[in-house]
Amino acid sequence: MRIVLLGAPGSGKGTQAENIVARYGITHVSTGDLLRAEVAAGTELGKKAKAIMDAGGLVSDEIVLGMIEERMNKGLSAGFLLDGFPRTLAQAEALDAMLAKLEKPLDCTLFFDVDFDEITKRLLSRGRADDNEDTIRKRLAVYEEQTAPLISYYEGTGKLKTVKGVGSVDEISQRIFDVLDAHR
Ligand code: AP5
Repeated sequence: MRIVLLGAPGSGKGTQAENIVARYGITHVSTGDLLRAEVAAGTELGKKAKAIMDAGGLVSDEIVLGMIEERMNKGLSAGFLLDGFPRTLAQAEALDAMLAKLEKPLDCTLFFDVDFDEITKRLLSRGRADDNEDTIRKRLAVYEEQTAPLISYYEGTGKLKTVKGVGSVDEISQRIFDVLDAHR
């Protein structure tokens, strides 16, 4: 199973990713986690990315696609879950091209539908480095401008499934499993 998780910051992608990979035995690839690992290791890439992440912007497509390509070249299991990637139309198109070459097209894009008030509450109570009010506002604006257009992009491929992302974590996982089980 090859899945993309699409949703605003704080919509629950990382939380649900853990339950999905545990159930289906697929590999979790989070570009946010990959970038935070670069920052923690103090690499050149991490230094470039840190200021952008702290300000709530998007790291360049070039850097993110380079990281994804490197991850793919290391070998991905037959199934994978992409979390926080793609985030721009250019990333989505590059991903489609990469997967077409590997003959591993996506099965499904899950869009987590959560309103911005709920998201802001969740992120303020988490308190990650980029979870302050100003940065959250910026992340949501960037999401609307650059990532939300992917909803219609994936609708156009017939692969978009929308999941209501409000309720308990287990309730939402069950909604996701119902969608994904129908795909197996
Ligand atoms: P990334 O790490 O991808 O962060 P994000 O998209 O901002 O997502 P979050 O981790 O904030 O939210 P989430 O949807 O995973 O929700 P979560 O489960 O954590 O990216 C960070 C930065 O890296 C970006 O801003 C950008 O700079 C850069 N970046 C990453 N990928 C990039 C790319 N492809 N291109 C360019 N730049 C990129 O949940 C959030 C909180 O809510 C948690 O506290 C959780 O416990 C809680 N929660 C979850 N579910 C529920 C629920 N059902 N009820 C109540 N609380 C809940």
